[in-house]
Amino acid sequence: MKKRQLGAGGPLVGAVGLGCMSFAGFYGETDEAEGHACLDAAVELGVDFLDTSNIYGMGRSENVIGSWLATRKPNVVIATKAGIVPRPERRFDNSEQHLRSELEGSLKRLGVDHVDLFYVHRREADRPIEEVVGTLKALIDEGKIGGYGLSEVAPTTLRRAHAEHPCRAVQNEYSLWTRQPDLGMVQACAELGVAFVPFSPLGRGIFGETFPDPTRFGEADFRRSNPRFMEPNFSANCAAIEGFKTFARSRGWSVPAAALAWTLDQGPHVIPIPGTRSAAHLRELATADDISFTDDDRAEIARLLPLGFAHGPRYSYAQYFGVEVYG
Ligand SMILES: NC(=O)c1ccc[n+]([C@@H]2O[C@H](COP(=O)([O-])OP(=O)(O)OC[C@H]3O[C@@H](n4cnc5c(N)ncnc54)[C@H](OP(=O)(O)O)[C@@H]3O)[C@@H](O)[C@H]2O)c1
Repeated sequence: MKKRQLGAGGPLVGAVGLGCMSFAGFYGETDEAEGHACLDAAVELGVDFLDTSNIYGMGRSENVIGSWLATRKPNVVIATKAGIVPRPERRFDNSEQHLRSELEGSLKRLGVDHVDLFYVHRREADRPIEEVVGTLKALIDEGKIGGYGLSEVAPTTLRRAHAEHPCRAVQNEYSLWTRQPDLGMVQACAELGVAFVPFSPLGRGIFGETFPDPTRFGEADFRRSNPRFMEPNFSANCAAIEGFKTFARSRGWSVPAAALAWTLDQGPHVIPIPGTRSAAHLRELATADDISFTDDDRAEIARLLPLGFAHGPRYSYAQYFGVEVYG
């Protein structure tokens, strides 16, 4: 696996990371053993950048990583997040007290004394970002975090934060069907020496080898209430993506690897974190590192999946709450 730098001054990590939200059953049931097998495969493949959060299964994802770390002692770079309070009503808290206490909980579940990267999961709109960065800088100085990141923010927030103390990574949704970061965020990160970390780079599974079946989504599956997976959008999206799948196969690539390779192709500072519970799926995803596009490939992908092709917004109205909109 080729390496990329996790922001100026940050560690080198495998170009493909691993999103560990799926270990909490976000897109279907799983268990600790399956998570551990996936993490073992990650190490073997050179996928050494693990992404989690305090709220993925309310600590379940971090617990799976923590019990794995305790027995394997691998050399991995861990990112976690705080700032969302999901219950009883979803809200955001970027106060020093909240970020500190949530980080302590994450360290405990992970069984480590520091994490390499700590994201503010959503910005609290009324709290000056400079104050939040002050808290994060203190955590860096205390050795509890290697650097800080921001999630679902606008370029203006990144610039204000970065001026206060260098930001290491921005994590926003980005994939062939979610292109908002092209309206300034991918570019701002490149300019400032900040890693850009696409989340949901497989479009929450739409770029799998076969399309997911919404009639089989479990009660807790996030996609049940996501507009792109609801009819009539879902069928229209599958029809739109079919041509890309045929093209990827004609080039000898697996479909999810080709979709992931498209994110890698957007710049050397782009480090995607595809999510999976499955060691077999991760092996397939890691082949994205071997794909290099010709200009003709890029033109064909742009023709097949032009900007804005997706039917339906990437979030429902409720899911958009807390996301900074820009462009
Ligand atoms: N900052 C934020 O607000 C935020 C929001 C969402 C996600 N994230 C992070 O980003 C990570 C990735 O995003 P995501 O999990 O939402 O979406 P994703 O990576 O776009 O897609 C995940 C889905 O793709 C499927 N999949 C993965 N590899 C596959 C393969 N080779 N073949 C077929 N299907 C495959 C997975 O199913 P299987 O498990 O069956 O493989 C899962 O259903 C998360 O784990 C999390 O760490 C962050």
